[in-house]
Amino acid sequence: MKILGISGSPRKEGVSGVDKLVRIVLENTGCDYEYISLRGKTISGCIACLGCAKDNVCKVKDDMTDLRGKIVAADAYVVGAPNYYSTLNALTHAFMERWFQFRHQEADTLWGKLAVAVGVGGQSGSFPVNELEKFFLYNFIETVANVTGQGAAACYSCGYGEDCKVGVHYALQGPGVEITPEITPDVSKQPETLRSAAEAGKRLGERLQGHDRQAATERMRKRMGEKLSEMMEHSA
Ligand SMILES: Cc1cc2nc3c(=O)[nH]c(=O)nc-3n(C[C@H](O)[C@H](O)[C@H](O)COP(=O)(O)O)c2cc1C
Repeated sequence: MKILGISGSPRKEGVSGVDKLVRIVLENTGCDYEYISLRGKTISGCIACLGCAKDNVCKVKDDMTDLRGKIVAADAYVVGAPNYYSTLNALTHAFMERWFQFRHQEADTLWGKLAVAVGVGGQSGSFPVNELEKFFLYNFIETVANVTGQGAAACYSCGYGEDCKVGVHYALQGPGVEITPEITPDVSKQPETLRSAAEAGKRLGERLQGHDRQAATERMRKRMGEKLSEMMEHSA
């Protein structure tokens, strides 16, 4: 069983909370895995050219071309993203949009595979997690666990955070509070977050043992149908 782990954070390794949590999930699966950061990669969003409709291969030439084979070969995914403006950051969104190439003509390349969604935000990681779960569902991929954590917003390192009235630090702590390593949010200091990442990894490893892709596909197909009905009701 091979798991593909993706961190969509553009931040440096060692600073990014998404990187840390994705790695912890992977390390706890007990399976073979490959970890890839999208940092520095050039990945455009889907351009709706429909070049993939015939053969399920995206025709846009950028760093996604090399990643395609890894996505196809993996049995499961651990994808993590930072919260930007209460959604996925653009890099991870572009990466996930390009999974559109797998959705044509009953292509079952990804159907019934398993995933863990990871999200980190200055306040909340739940927005990116919800978005990732939606993307997985569109390809009938079952999300078996999600992990959320609080990371350091840019305000903790931009140099103006102590007095900036639109910053997160100011909003959370009030005026004149010194920024120190002790009060700077870091997923490594959040036992509950670390425990949930380790548990998510174990659950994914366990679920992969004797996994029935066909049954998972049917469950996800049903869930997708329910979701589409819900969406139709809300748009009516
Ligand atoms: C452009 C931008 C927008 C952001 N918007 C939000 C937001 O709406 N909500 C939130 O909780 N954090 C927000 N953040 C903070 C990041 O989610 C936070 O820094 C997180 O730790 C990033 O994860 P990373 O360190 O793994 O990259 C934003 C950061 C940036 C750079």
